[in-house]
Amino acid sequence: MRFQSLVLFLLVLSVSLAKNQAISVSYNPIKDINDPYVIEIARFAVTAYNKRAGAKLEFKTVIKGESKNVIKTYYRLNLSANNGSISNDYEAVVVDVPFNHHRHLISFKSLHS
Ligand SMILES: *[C@@H]1O[C@H](CO)[C@@H](O)[C@H](O)[C@H]1NC(C)=O
Ligand SMILES: *[C@@H]1O[C@H](CO)[C@@H](O)[C@H](O)[C@H]1NC(C)=O
Repeated sequence: MRFQSLVLFLLVLSVSLAKNQAISVSYNPIKDINDPYVIEIARFAVTAYNKRAGAKLEFKTVIKGESKNVIKTYYRLNLSANNGSISNDYEAVVVDVPFNHHRHLISFKSLHS
């Protein structure tokens, strides 16, 4: 009896997770690009890129952004950073999993070249 209700619970859980995934696979625009959490993600992207590429970019501002939530949240941000004395725009993709403090830079590329 208890085992059966556990199985039922897991079934309902997996169906609702699958539904959640199906609803939110596409990116949605971020309404408030000045949200401190979004700024934090953008700063993280620049810092992680600097470490990875040995660059010395300084984050300036988020220009535009999108996110999608599939248990993990994916952020796609267009941001502006100083590269030495030159300002440039970049597109960064970051995955963020707040509940286990996992954050990873997926890609970072220059928008103009
Ligand atoms: C970033 O800018 C590029 C070029 O203008 C555009 O194609 C892309 O959709 C933008 N990305 C976001 C997340 O707004
Ligand atoms: C920063 O500027 C240097 C020198 O102009 C250039 O070689 C490098 O590719 C730039 N890095 C980025 C990430 O834009």
